[in-house]
Amino acid sequence: MSTIQELFHEGKSVLKDFPHPHLESKQLLLKCLSLTEEQFLISLDRSVSSSQERCFNALISKRIAGVPLPYLTGFKEFWSIPFRISPGVLIPRPETELLVEKTLELSKGKDDVMVDIGTGCGNIAVSLAKERPHARIFAIESSRKALQLARRNASEQGISTITFASGSLFTPLEKLLIKEKCDFIVSNPPYVSEIDWKKLSTEIRDHEPKSALVAGETGLEVIKSLIQEAPLYLKSGGYLLFEIGYNQKDEIQSMFNLFSSWKKIGFLKDLAGKNRVALARK
Ligand SMILES: C[S@@+](CC[C@H](N)C(=O)[O-])C[C@H]1O[C@@H](n2cnc3c(N)ncnc32)[C@H](O)[C@@H]1O
Repeated sequence: MSTIQELFHEGKSVLKDFPHPHLESKQLLLKCLSLTEEQFLISLDRSVSSSQERCFNALISKRIAGVPLPYLTGFKEFWSIPFRISPGVLIPRPETELLVEKTLELSKGKDDVMVDIGTGCGNIAVSLAKERPHARIFAIESSRKALQLARRNASEQGISTITFASGSLFTPLEKLLIKEKCDFIVSNPPYVSEIDWKKLSTEIRDHEPKSALVAGETGLEVIKSLIQEAPLYLKSGGYLLFEIGYNQKDEIQSMFNLFSSWKKIGFLKDLAGKNRVALARK
């Protein structure tokens, strides 16, 4: 029978070609042993049962086959909050925290009305709700599986200020009677083109939902609808903020210029120096 420490080292060595073998081996062990990090650290000499060892070996094999770590552990941290994740729902990326950060910086009203379009597992909406407990938030999502997970994440975080709605883009908002009432419309929309999709790693293409990443032939199809339709729902002075692809700034600037409703159009770079967020004020 192996000890936790022995399995941990075995996992690290098998995963040596992954960027974070130490962290990945530990997370997979925590999952199979149902331990917290603190419990893990004081239990290294404990023996594991044969079913726990089988569980660990099975997860290691799946990881080697390219299954993303959060689909194996069932969790991904975003804005220091653990979000439940499952196959079929996009894994939140750390770069998206810039969108949350900028929205919070601009949001001064205690009771702002915010909309998150394409909420996925709810990472943006729940992070905003945690930071702005008096805001009213609407989270829209076209995938029923993602919406179900987002509802669960909100409830597990004790959030009851988000109204979840199923549907495409602004369609669910028509029934919610919030025309010209929103202070913020935020989105991490699908923005990858069909050509760029083929260049993504197999870990992404084989496991993450294409419909969460690819908007269409050009990648700008969903962004175009956001720019065109958001003014109908924003108050005067309200903001539209959304994540963009590293090479989309110029085309997006031209799209904004086509609509007279938009003022103060800007772009923010991420830590890697890539254009990551577009924002504009109505
Ligand atoms: C890039 S993912 C972002 C998910 C999550 N907000 C995040 O930041 O990780 C885009 C999300 O938009 C959803 N989506 C795609 N097209 C949509 C549409 N027309 N209307 C509503 N949601 C859509 C996808 O299912 C996916 O969950």
